[in-house]
Amino acid sequence: MDFESLRKKLAEHNQEHLLDFVNDLDEKSKQVLYNDITNTNIAEVVRFFNAATASMDTQTKVDDKMEPIPTEMFGSVTRSGKILKQWEKTGLEAVGKSKVCVLLLAGGQGTRLGVNYPKGMYNVGLPSGKPLYHLQAERILRLQRYSKEETGLSGTIPWYIMTSEHTQEPTEEYFASRNFFGLQKEDIVFFEQNMLPCMSFDGKIIMSNKGKIARAPDGNGGLYRALGEKVLGDMERRGIQYIHVYCVDNILVKMADPTFIGFCISKGANCGAKVVEKSYPTEPVGVVCRVDGKYQVVEYSEITLRTAEKRNEDGRLVFSAGNICNHFFTFDFLKEVVNENEPFLKHHVAKKKIPYVNEQGNIITPEKPNGIKMEKFVFDVFEFSNNFVVFEVLREDEFSPLKNSDKAEKDNPTTAKHALMSLHHRWVLNAGGSFVDKNDSLIPAIPSKRLKLDTTIRKPKTMASDKNGNDRRSANDVDHSLVICEVSPLVSYAGEGLEEVVSNKRFQSPLLLTEKYIKDKEMQIK
Ligand code: UD1
Repeated sequence: MDFESLRKKLAEHNQEHLLDFVNDLDEKSKQVLYNDITNTNIAEVVRFFNAATASMDTQTKVDDKMEPIPTEMFGSVTRSGKILKQWEKTGLEAVGKSKVCVLLLAGGQGTRLGVNYPKGMYNVGLPSGKPLYHLQAERILRLQRYSKEETGLSGTIPWYIMTSEHTQEPTEEYFASRNFFGLQKEDIVFFEQNMLPCMSFDGKIIMSNKGKIARAPDGNGGLYRALGEKVLGDMERRGIQYIHVYCVDNILVKMADPTFIGFCISKGANCGAKVVEKSYPTEPVGVVCRVDGKYQVVEYSEITLRTAEKRNEDGRLVFSAGNICNHFFTFDFLKEVVNENEPFLKHHVAKKKIPYVNEQGNIITPEKPNGIKMEKFVFDVFEFSNNFVVFEVLREDEFSPLKNSDKAEKDNPTTAKHALMSLHHRWVLNAGGSFVDKNDSLIPAIPSKRLKLDTTIRKPKTMASDKNGNDRRSANDVDHSLVICEVSPLVSYAGEGLEEVVSNKRFQSPLLLTEKYIKDKEMQIK
């Protein structure tokens, strides 16, 4: 351990404070710190900081250059009509030929939800008790079977999972302890993203204690560095051509959605994004738009309120293409990004409260932001695409993210649970089933309407009212105290195949439709 040379090297980058407390450390901790620093490319970190902070001031300039993407240019589940079935077939064939994989971004720290384990392990309180990972795994299993039923081809959908220092071990242990939810172990590939030092506003690396650099994952765009030759090589070996990238927290995520994949394939796209219509100006979703003629997502943290609030004459938001973090890449595009474009991606700056050791050696938990985390964003590669497409889907069918705890009004465990049960309730109704109450009276299909008439129904604690006393609800906020309905992903991926099970049948809430339930009912009929 040559601390003198190390100090000189650090001084070249104005970072010699990293050794301020070295003499207070025991030999083992000294070695840990020495390794921590020497394994960090300090020059690169400082370069990242300078580049990221230099572009902070250009925010309003980007804002001024933003152009909406005309909705006529989108593929859309509501406007594309009969061709949707054709797209689905194309997607199912690609799945059947094992050309499709899913790639999960699961390296985030989940700070807003406030749990100390990976978000994918969170159980929102569904009747089945299945956490997010369990739902996702079973959707893969079901899609593999569905594609076989429709195309006769037995394909596999490998699942690539990007974790970070915080989530790596617990995620892998969790999957192993659940026997990989019935998937083949070798079809799940875990890989870890990098961590970057956190910086003070004046460009000094922050120490979290006397012997440790404060670090955070380098953003979900850290994907491109983390993939490297190993994971790309694995995809290539398996013959993967299409990659569906998604984020962990959307309880309604359609894993490897064949319609979306088929749409992208049919358009010859090398890159695509799914969007929903943004519901209010300050909704925390990025917007897909064009800047200088190039497709881009402008993140909710980087758009100005003035731009977010702009409306068309019909009252709709000008920038309404809300990013739901569901992206499509061809393998060739992804490989090119990893091998050529990745170094050109700039880090974004997130101002955060970062616990630090002060000059007196005490650990301080700040009450306001005291530094920055540097993050790359997964969608920043859209600009490298020469054929980018957008696919618009319905929020109530496909987007209900779990971001916050139930203390927050939106995007919390309750709204996620309700969104899933609401969707599954509609699947049963659409397949010809119905729900009755204890008196065998039909429960109306749209409970929110009844809610307005029936004042005896309690408002959930999380529901807020606007200044006129009206409920502020989005589709995901519908009160489902009336119907509790969950369909196992192993029974249906997106509402298909339910007719023979539910048509002309009357159910009482709660209904948990599993393979076992169906089998037991069949036995009774025999
Ligand atoms: C993200 C999108 C936003 C979109 C919203 C929809 C990005 C940068 N932003 O915002 O445009 O409207 O979702 O819900 O994609 N993650 C990592 N490594 C990291 C940081 C995050 O893998 O270093 C993962 C998370 O585990 C999560 C996903 O990326 O699965 C999204 O991260 P999150 O912080 O939840 O993004 P949002 O700010 O909600």
